[in-house]
Amino acid sequence: MPPDTSPPANLVLDLPSIVERIDLAKIFEKPQALEIELGCGDASFLTEYARRHPERNFIGVERLLGRIQKLDRKGRRAGLTNLRGVRIESAYFLQYLLPPHAASALHIYFPDPWPKKKHRRHRLINEGFPALARAALAPGGVVYLRTDDADYFQQMTEVFAASDDYQKVETPAELAEVLTDFERDFNARGIQTLRAAYRVLNF
Ligand SMILES: C[S@@+](CC[C@H](N)C(=O)[O-])C[C@H]1O[C@@H](n2cnc3c(N)ncnc32)[C@H](O)[C@@H]1O
Repeated sequence: MPPDTSPPANLVLDLPSIVERIDLAKIFEKPQALEIELGCGDASFLTEYARRHPERNFIGVERLLGRIQKLDRKGRRAGLTNLRGVRIESAYFLQYLLPPHAASALHIYFPDPWPKKKHRRHRLINEGFPALARAALAPGGVVYLRTDDADYFQQMTEVFAASDDYQKVETPAELAEVLTDFERDFNARGIQTLRAAYRVLNF
């Protein structure tokens, strides 16, 4: 029987197990470089960026059902075969579901800032994150960050600067020009947003 090449009925993965790593060869039509957005929200950025880069594969990770369903709707409407969504917690996804060193880029845009001091331990980008990301990134892979929260931005830059495993790099213009939903909203309200990017070293 010829292989089934028809697009899946739902772009959101129905995980067969949450303790086994995802078989990327089974979920994507083509074996291509993989980029991941953690906390992809309504997935406007990811669907547009995946549309612009059919030569790459993309996974959006999001914990809210209503938002990951938007990834499905937008992705299928755009006829994308290089995009999938996973409804799960981002750090868990990196640690337990993604095969090691599988991602050429991690996009983390406007992660929840947890502004109260006593809640800061909930932030995704903390002292442990550079090591978590390093285990997920392929050689030369990059972490791209954007936020409107100056205090969180300072924490992001400090934790990456404290790691010998990363080099600060520029965000390419072709990436920076693709805005996220939250970014568009902040721009409309005149709120300044900040960005940084770090390439992994030492493989
Ligand atoms: C402020 S929104 C930003 C969404 C999108 N990146 C954007 O810029 O438009 C943060 C998103 O991350 C999701 N989120 C927050 N913490 C998460 C986590 N630990 N794992 C997965 N998703 C998370 C939230 O549900 C929300 O959709």
